[in-house]
Amino acid sequence: MDLTEHLQRHFMAGKTVFVTGGGSGINLAIASSFARVGADVAICGRTAEKLEAAAAQLRALGARALPVPADVRDLDAMRAAFARTREELGPVSAVVAGAAGNFLAPAEKLSSNGFRTVVDIDLQGAFHTASAAFQDLKETRGALLFVSAGQSYMPFVQQAHVGAAKAGIDSLMRTLALEWGGHGIRCNSIAPGPVEGTEGMERLAETVGHDTWAATTALGRYATKEEIGAMAVVLCSPLASYVTGVRLDVDGGTALSGSGIFNAAVARAAAG
Ligand code: COA
Repeated sequence: MDLTEHLQRHFMAGKTVFVTGGGSGINLAIASSFARVGADVAICGRTAEKLEAAAAQLRALGARALPVPADVRDLDAMRAAFARTREELGPVSAVVAGAAGNFLAPAEKLSSNGFRTVVDIDLQGAFHTASAAFQDLKETRGALLFVSAGQSYMPFVQQAHVGAAKAGIDSLMRTLALEWGGHGIRCNSIAPGPVEGTEGMERLAETVGHDTWAATTALGRYATKEEIGAMAVVLCSPLASYVTGVRLDVDGGTALSGSGIFNAAVARAAAG
């Protein structure tokens, strides 16, 4: 093993990371990136079997991995998940609040419960995660990373619920960065663009097509999962020790051309 490889493998050694929604998709990719650089990883989600399978993948990368089933909508369950993680892996020094739900629905057809469900999972869930993590993060002077999205700051049609939730997350992130900065806790978010091989992307691409998503980016392609995971690790690492209150767009330049291409494709799909 050469020196660079050694440094990479040990970059986050001895650190415990907690990832919500870590059983699949972008969040599992983020958990994998932490595992590759030596962190111990707790992954939290609703389905125990899904988490077990994901934990096996993380162990294959050489990490200690702990599946902690809990619904982010339940604060007591989140507190218990952090307590269990602390018991097994020690206090958490990086938390990724990534659990999210998404579907396309025109606002006039979206039920009150449909809107609330996404806000509950994404925004309320992010708050629960932060609350339950606070004592550990205070002790470790750790980092909190929220998974935001372009919907936070650009209007995407049929995403009223998601936009409201993600904008709320970025607002929460900035407030916590201010309130908790005195404890040495850094709070940031990342807004991924289209990422290949994720459930969320598959759902949205069903309507607008894969090529449309690639066309929304300046780079003309999807991100790999590793490209998102790498930036998550950097933001939670000492390399970003003076970065807090920031949303980092890891989106291949989607923000440059806005949501118009997506919105036009949804309108075309609706017209049949
Ligand atoms: N269009 C319109 N409304 C929808 C919908 C859709 N495609 N999917 C769900 N809803 C509505 C439901 O109708 C229900 O409202 P109602 O009671 O007024 O009918 C409400 O949302 C809750 O749905 P339910 O399936 O009971 O919620 P859940 O907690 O089991 O699931 C979701 C949460 C809806 C977000 C589900 O899509 C999910 O679990 N997603 C997780 C995976 C995911 O989305 N990954 C991508 C992340 S980007």
